[in-house]
Amino acid sequence: MKYRTLGGDLTVSAIGLGCMGMTHAFGAPSDSREMTKLIHEAVELGYTMFDTAECYTGTLPDGSTAYNEELVGAALAPYRKNVIIATKCGVRHAQDGLITDSRPETIRRSVEGSLKRLGTDYIDLYYQHRIDPDVEPETVAGTMAQLIKEGKIRYWGISEANEEYLRRAHAVCPVTAIQNRYSMMARWHESLFCTLEELRIGYVAFSPLANGFLSAKYDERSSFEQETDYRSRMPQFSAEGVKQNQELLALLEKTGEEKHATPAQISLAWMLCRQPNLVAIPGTRKSERLRENAGAAEIELSPEELARIDCALNHMEMSAVFGGAKIIR
Ligand SMILES: NC(=O)c1ccc[n+]([C@@H]2O[C@H](COP(=O)([O-])OP(=O)(O)OC[C@H]3O[C@@H](n4cnc5c(N)ncnc54)[C@H](OP(=O)(O)O)[C@@H]3O)[C@@H](O)[C@H]2O)c1
Repeated sequence: MKYRTLGGDLTVSAIGLGCMGMTHAFGAPSDSREMTKLIHEAVELGYTMFDTAECYTGTLPDGSTAYNEELVGAALAPYRKNVIIATKCGVRHAQDGLITDSRPETIRRSVEGSLKRLGTDYIDLYYQHRIDPDVEPETVAGTMAQLIKEGKIRYWGISEANEEYLRRAHAVCPVTAIQNRYSMMARWHESLFCTLEELRIGYVAFSPLANGFLSAKYDERSSFEQETDYRSRMPQFSAEGVKQNQELLALLEKTGEEKHATPAQISLAWMLCRQPNLVAIPGTRKSERLRENAGAAEIELSPEELARIDCALNHMEMSAVFGGAKIIR
């Protein structure tokens, strides 16, 4: 594993573990004992960054709620001092989208709930999960500054940040990292790279495999559980999407052969080699994929190789890619 520093002094593994899918959005919640074993294996492999959120819940067969934070917190308890736990506040899931709420009193209530579910007395990195159009960035940053002073959180970040919001928030309380979507198929936040370098803010790339699609292990025959697995509605996994992405998959396969790596590793190595202040947090529930993804940190792509990949990406046809649930308030 390789390590990188976010925001000046928060050192994390270049590949972190996105834990969301263990309880949320990728089918029914997985067995918590197996996921605990997987998280322990990740620690042994050198992963130090673990990503969760208060809203990553799922429904268990008996109708009760599976809380991702409880799973992650309990699994990491024996390693607490040596790992970075990142969690998020400010979003609730509704039937047709996300409801945002970053009022100071809500953030305060959320942090207490997360600390309890995680079974810890501090959160390493606390994100505002989405911008709340009704709350000014200065207000959110002021609340985070107080939480840092009180020792409840060590660092803070913003998920799906834009430049103006980020600059205003950062002026009140320095932001350590943004957590935005980023993959070979979702490159719309690249315009933030210069600002992040200027302000010394890290980029935590979520959905770095375009929800697994860039592993090239899925095709038009792949089927996903309609109710609980969001991939059943993602355009890149549709039969039409798979057809439109053949050139992309061929590029990943060919580059993988040249570099003795898998397509998933190439797509992760590509982003790590492009941006020194970036780390990726692919999600998985499988041991072999955990190892495969960790291996991406060891792959070096030369400037020429990167330029060749970028040139190909810029000129090829691709399907639409899932861009996140819509904000309904
Ligand atoms: N801030 C936000 O708003 C936000 C939004 C979404 C996600 N996130 C965070 O980012 C993390 C990752 O995002 P994501 O889960 O949406 O997308 P992702 O990491 O791009 O893809 C995850 C999916 O890819 C599969 N996968 C992973 N590695 C693989 C490999 N080597 N080969 C084949 N398949 C592989 C996983 O399936 P298996 O489990 O079956 O391996 C899983 O279904 C989440 O866990 C969460 O912590 C944050």
